[in-house]
Amino acid sequence: MPKSLISIHDFSKEEMLHILEMAAKFEQQPAQKLLDGKIIASIFFEPSTRTRLSFETAANRLGARVVGFSDVKNTSVSKGETLKDTITMVANYADLIVMRHPLEGSARYASEIASVPVINAGDGANQHPSQTLLDLYSIQKTQGRLDDIHITMIGDLKYGRTVHSLLQALSLFNARFKFIAPPELQMPDEYKSYLTDRQLAFEEHSDLTGNIADADILYMTRVQRERFQDPIEYEKVKDSYSLKKTMLAGARPNMKILHPLPRVNEIDPDVDDTHHAYYFEQARNGMFVRMAIFAHVLGCA
Ligand code: CP
Repeated sequence: MPKSLISIHDFSKEEMLHILEMAAKFEQQPAQKLLDGKIIASIFFEPSTRTRLSFETAANRLGARVVGFSDVKNTSVSKGETLKDTITMVANYADLIVMRHPLEGSARYASEIASVPVINAGDGANQHPSQTLLDLYSIQKTQGRLDDIHITMIGDLKYGRTVHSLLQALSLFNARFKFIAPPELQMPDEYKSYLTDRQLAFEEHSDLTGNIADADILYMTRVQRERFQDPIEYEKVKDSYSLKKTMLAGARPNMKILHPLPRVNEIDPDVDDTHHAYYFEQARNGMFVRMAIFAHVLGCA
């Protein structure tokens, strides 16, 4: 079976560190035609700006060509074609598939059908492993290390696939975790048990203001309207947190704010011009990390 990236567990710690090393090289020298002659299929069943465009840019920078869709309305999915048939067909045309899909487990299912590698670009509330690798790259770049980081995760910790993948990856590097969420959106028990089983410390709070000073990384997340069945439930929690410049007065000098983006109200624009804001650079880092993922999965580096 070809090497796919569906969950962060598909890569060993050594492979993750290798990806980060390669990403640093691509950042120094982005024009490397390692994928000349390859075709990448980029199939997005859910909206995306950063993930899709950075994967497609990464493929173009490496000399590959990109086919795909970003709106299923224009595909035969709208006529009732199954995911199984869609993946079988796309695997006939491309050397690798990048897929985002709203259903948890859909990416693993696709990887079991496809004759080519599949990269999970987000499957529902489950996993977003390429985001995790770019988050690790951003942490390493800004903190000079990955070990023993104090990370505070804020917002939608229940449905946030980025925090689920990142928690699992950082557990390999002895991180200390704080979780800040309203009661309705707390980190699911399975992820807390994951940390407990590995004897890693975590704290849970609902207040943001008193939990900024001891963080190396504040990892903000959006409350995702699209994950709620009931709009009234979304309205209750949508504005739970809003980080403002005045709240950063006691922050560690090295503290950086990460956010997978898009943001809505959870980071006030007045934070953008502080030296703590790193979310736009973080998104740029994604392009180099995704070049490294392509090169690694396709055995070109
Ligand atoms: N971080 C992220 O997944 O952003 P998009 O939804 O814009 O791809």
